[in-house]
Amino acid sequence: MAHTLPPLPYPYNALEPYISEEIMVLHHTKHHQTYVNALNAAEASYAKASTPKERIALQAALKFNGGGHINHSLFWKNLAPSAAVNKGTGGVLRDGAFKTAIEKTFGSLDNLKKEFNAATAGIQGSGWGWLGVNPSNKQLEISTTPNQDPLLTLVPIIGVDIWEHAFYLQYKNVKVDYLAAIWNVINFEEAEARYNEAVGASKL
Ligand SMILES: [Fe+2]
Repeated sequence: MAHTLPPLPYPYNALEPYISEEIMVLHHTKHHQTYVNALNAAEASYAKASTPKERIALQAALKFNGGGHINHSLFWKNLAPSAAVNKGTGGVLRDGAFKTAIEKTFGSLDNLKKEFNAATAGIQGSGWGWLGVNPSNKQLEISTTPNQDPLLTLVPIIGVDIWEHAFYLQYKNVKVDYLAAIWNVINFEEAEARYNEAVGASKL
């Protein structure tokens, strides 16, 4: 079955003033849609391929566009209208096991933001910054992936798109301002639910 563009869980202007409507429209309807279309095309070609050589030739397109679709589908849910401008609950980390784990691992939420932003700003070229749970020890870790590589080593909790298409129209070359601003629209409720699911599995 063909992949489709998932609808945004909020209007295109809902993340303003931190992420502009113009960015959100282009990012969702053009960039993400392109990954979906190219993934469908690559999967259709793969299904028709009759030799290992033909299938190997499609690996890069499957990884890039499949990763792009996975990462963006997760990213939209990672974001929420901001509490700082009375639009929603974005940016608010409530008390609970997730907050406790952040404070235990990073000392404070502010320090997590600092370490996350430093690692993500340090990506050469395009990529993604991640907060994830290590499946072996259930600890929170910061990681990065290049290009559209999905996070495979950790269970993704929060992912931030650091491709220029995610911020350039509003923040120009000042990547660190985008990274500082995005925490105002991080959906910590979604992150907490993912965290609880990721660590809960270990108790079975
Ligand atoms: Fe993107």
